[in-house]
Amino acid sequence: MSDPDHQHTVVTYYDTHPINEQQILEKLERDDIALEGLTERDLQAYDQDHYGGIEITEQLANDAGMAADHRVLDVCSGMGGPARYFAYHRGCSVMGLDLTASRVASAQRLTELVGLDHLVDFRQGDAQAMPLDDAQFDIAISQEALLHVPDKRAVIEECARVLKLGGTLAFTDLTQRTDIAHDDMRLLSKALASVNFATADQYREWLRGAGFEMMVDVDRSEDLKQILTERLAMYKSLGDQTRARFGKGREKEWEDGYSFFVESVVRGRLGGCRFVARRV
Ligand SMILES: C[S@@+](CC[C@H](N)C(=O)[O-])C[C@H]1O[C@@H](n2cnc3c(N)ncnc32)[C@H](O)[C@@H]1O
Repeated sequence: MSDPDHQHTVVTYYDTHPINEQQILEKLERDDIALEGLTERDLQAYDQDHYGGIEITEQLANDAGMAADHRVLDVCSGMGGPARYFAYHRGCSVMGLDLTASRVASAQRLTELVGLDHLVDFRQGDAQAMPLDDAQFDIAISQEALLHVPDKRAVIEECARVLKLGGTLAFTDLTQRTDIAHDDMRLLSKALASVNFATADQYREWLRGAGFEMMVDVDRSEDLKQILTERLAMYKSLGDQTRARFGKGREKEWEDGYSFFVESVVRGRLGGCRFVARRV
């Protein structure tokens, strides 16, 4: 199930990602935002790494009926932006789980910076085999992360295991919408540190098979065309920083790969989904 080579690829991808803790801190400084007294509200424009910003995170919280007495798991939590958002705005306690140790460390530091570490904590681990006990969580959330995971069905089954009965899984991800030629798939896999993409039908089947009842099933493919076109422009604007931190080769590799990915979305080969399902 876990492929060490692929895990290494994912970790390297996020260790050299244009959006990172240092880049966030530099951007805050450039925007004249002091670190002293910083809140989640100040940080939320900088620390989210998914498609659709705070609006989609709020949408998932609403879909799941998130409230202060809920224990929430953020699956593949990155630098912890959504986890902090849920804790700050809903008052719930949140655990973030992520494969990449540097992401976990950044998430912890940013959470301490905004004084939310009493509500939010992070663990390093693989979402395909979560280092977590059964039936602990009311809600599991995931945003734009399963695309990196080879065995997406295993992640859904793990969510079913760690959720309480009646708990909710709410997530967004990329979907494959057409056949994709082998060479193009290789380019996409390299650009995104992925090995495959699920179709929306596969997600429906895996959710049902893991004991979930579907609550929300939304195709985000059209929305993603604009969101990702804007995101490509944002990454291009970070080019100088990416080059300074990780070298010219990584800047070019990132820009070429991301451009090909966005073109694949605009041309309808890849799209996106939002699924919300209850553990029954
Ligand atoms: C695009 S980021 C999303 C971060 C966060 N959900 C957000 O919206 O800000 C994807 C994250 O998935 C993590 N990831 C990839 N494969 C994973 C796995 N098998 N188990 C746990 N985390 C994984 C990566 O380390 C990365 O931090």
